[in-house]
Amino acid sequence: MQFSLAPGGKLTGRIRVPGDKSMSHRSIMLGAIAEGRTSVSGFLEGEDALATLSAFRAMGVEISDPQSGRLTIEGVGLRGLQAPSKTLDLGNSGTSIRLMAGLLAGQSFDTVLTGDESLLRRPMGRIINPLTQMGATIDSREGCPPLHIQGASALDGIHYDLPVASAQVKSSVLLAGLYASGRTSVTEPAPTRDHTERMLTGFGYSVSREKGVISVAGGGVLRGTEIDIPADISSAAFFMVGASIAPGSDLILEHVGLNPTRDGVITILRAMGANIEVSQARTVGGEPVADLRIRYAPLRGIDIPVEEVPLAIDELPAILVAAACAEGVTVLRGAEELRVKESDRIASMAEGLTQLGIGNTVAPDGITVVGGTPSGGVITTHHDHRIAMSFAMAALRASDPIIVTDCAHVATSFPGFAELAANTGLRLTVTAS
Ligand code: S3P
Repeated sequence: MQFSLAPGGKLTGRIRVPGDKSMSHRSIMLGAIAEGRTSVSGFLEGEDALATLSAFRAMGVEISDPQSGRLTIEGVGLRGLQAPSKTLDLGNSGTSIRLMAGLLAGQSFDTVLTGDESLLRRPMGRIINPLTQMGATIDSREGCPPLHIQGASALDGIHYDLPVASAQVKSSVLLAGLYASGRTSVTEPAPTRDHTERMLTGFGYSVSREKGVISVAGGGVLRGTEIDIPADISSAAFFMVGASIAPGSDLILEHVGLNPTRDGVITILRAMGANIEVSQARTVGGEPVADLRIRYAPLRGIDIPVEEVPLAIDELPAILVAAACAEGVTVLRGAEELRVKESDRIASMAEGLTQLGIGNTVAPDGITVVGGTPSGGVITTHHDHRIAMSFAMAALRASDPIIVTDCAHVATSFPGFAELAANTGLRLTVTAS
């Protein structure tokens, strides 16, 4: 499947993008090991979160079929998961495999976790190291999946200084900590998304966060609860960029999760001159939520503040499209983590920008982009959903048609993207590759 995009257009209307992916994964994982029923609304029915759902069903957890984002999970308690009868296939999802490895390290049974071609290339040493220090036994294929996790390992709490700013690593260690003796604590080199900490608290599990040290004690109880998942700011980001770069745009994005560990995209786009208005700010289930109104504004290139990088890590491909349409030069540094996402996103973005005639220079930890007018061209996504959606938005300012090939992976995080984007004004049609 590919996206064919005619140049021009503007984005208008009022939309709600699908639910937050990070929170959707965690709602299933924590709901499964809680005592009693958890009711979820706003669940993302994308392939990644559905892979987590299927994996927990395979471990004996009763989970209703999601309907319009609503589902219920009959929690089995911390010790109630059952051995799956086969390998758990987590598809494209790094969050599933890394968080579940922590949670499964503490079970009494063995598990094997695998995934698609992209997942099989992603580094797992970053979770294997701390989990092994806790007493887990995990075999991998030279630091990549499949992961063989041996059950019946007694885990001990540790203190772990995260060498990379990664919410997946932090969460993996904390989830293993639920099964460990004593306290498990982590410190981060920079703040990363804190949905695990917030959601554990929502399940009545005590999480201490003092002077940058996050810790849990093992052996507590999670109590089933209600979770209202807001729209995913990472999905909203494509529309924020699209409306910012296309003259005449005026778009409202409803009920967007604005967790301060996730809102770097707003800070960065505003620094570039974007017109983003936040209204109806409220707290829903322990997470800040608001409506966003984005109107076209001429953008200028900036040096992206390094401290904003972890707070916008998944939105950087979209931000680079904004940079391509801005006046002047944008410099991104301190973003080496982009190299180990669903694709090497520095390389994928550089290749696509070059295809569209946008000058760029690659560094090991980032890229410099010289703003201009994107031409038309053919974009290769490297099976990466966020590369596909970012370049789709570039068509709003392109001089000629853009074809984005191999877009099936968009369904991992944003089912219905093409329809929603076309309804707001993107000149997009889906065709067979
Ligand atoms: C996620 C953490 C981030 C992010 C990913 C989701 C999470 O990954 O890129 O899309 O839900 O914890 P890293 O922990 O590798 O930075």
